[in-house]
Amino acid sequence: MSREADSPSGQFPGFVDCEVPGGIRLYSGKVRDIFEVGDDLLIVTSDRISAFDRVLGLVPNKGEVLTQFSAWWFDRVRDITAHHMIARPTPRSMHVRRCRVLPVEVVVRGYLTGSAWRDYQAGRVVSGIALPPGMRWNQQFDQPLVTPSTKAEHGVHDRPVSTDEVVGLGLIEEPLWRQVQQTALALFERGRAICAAQGLILVDTKYEFGLYNGRLTLVDEIHTPDSSRFWFAEHYRENFESGRPQRKLDKEYLRQWLMDRGFQGDGQPPAIPPEVLAEVGRRYASAYEIITGTKFVASGDSVEAARRKVLLYLTELQRAHTEGYDADQGEDH
Ligand SMILES: Nc1ncnc2c1ncn2[C@@H]1O[C@H](COP(=O)(O)OP(=O)(O)OP(=O)(O)O)[C@@H](O)[C@H]1O
Ligand SMILES: [Mg+2]
Repeated sequence: MSREADSPSGQFPGFVDCEVPGGIRLYSGKVRDIFEVGDDLLIVTSDRISAFDRVLGLVPNKGEVLTQFSAWWFDRVRDITAHHMIARPTPRSMHVRRCRVLPVEVVVRGYLTGSAWRDYQAGRVVSGIALPPGMRWNQQFDQPLVTPSTKAEHGVHDRPVSTDEVVGLGLIEEPLWRQVQQTALALFERGRAICAAQGLILVDTKYEFGLYNGRLTLVDEIHTPDSSRFWFAEHYRENFESGRPQRKLDKEYLRQWLMDRGFQGDGQPPAIPPEVLAEVGRRYASAYEIITGTKFVASGDSVEAARRKVLLYLTELQRAHTEGYDADQGEDH
């Protein structure tokens, strides 16, 4: 996808290398553009949407919703874990501590659905866990499960592993992995309780952790529609009993739209019409509004304005870093 292709305001495609001021490194993930300044990062969340590990289009205001959503959640979990957020200088960017990211995506599941259901149905274990027979689609687990997957290098699909393999394969050492799992479960419980108070079910979610000065730190994003499934609680029981799909407020809407057209990640993806992307955007904003109880107000920034704000902050950050560095040098002599 060309990032420069028609991108009206409210649809921010991201950055390209040539725009970056000298001395600052840019890494682009599927959704985020990440600038490195000293020990810090500026993470800019674009409006790119990925499904089945492919970037498929731009969803209006998605990056602003995700940024505000994660910031809101970070504030509500600070008693559970350290997190990476330092500041939120523009509507779609977050200034964070650069961490050594652990090579495991920590998925916590409260319900048997999605890929776990597909594995279960096919008689496969779910991340090394043998589930009891006779479970049904979308059934709640007695206790949430931690189902890790390896954080694959760029462009490679993640691979599910068992909790034992995380240690066995040497991905994370045992005591730290134990701490990661406890933290993930505590975060999930907090998320579940907050969502429940607003009539939503936090079905499952993915966390990433890193180390900052040796301290376990929550990074990336938290409890957003990109990283989590949300269902409406009101009709859960009825839908579950009758085997009907749940009412959802997450990325599943787009995944389903793609699967209905025979796309599951391989070959040429179908072109997604603007009204489908707009609907995805409305669902993201709606999840934010229901959970936080506040209205989502888009900044209305044009693509140019959004870029300008980011580049301005980056320039200041780099100057502060350079001056700090000089001062440190001065002390040594
Ligand atoms: N505080 C942090 N320190 C270092 N890396 C971080 C931090 N927070 C997030 N990241 C990394 O930044 C990237 C976020 O970008 P994005 O979500 O677009 O990537 P992705 O599509 O999930 O993965 P990929 O890197 O495979 O493209 C992730 O690779 C994530 O691990
Ligand atoms: Mg990501």
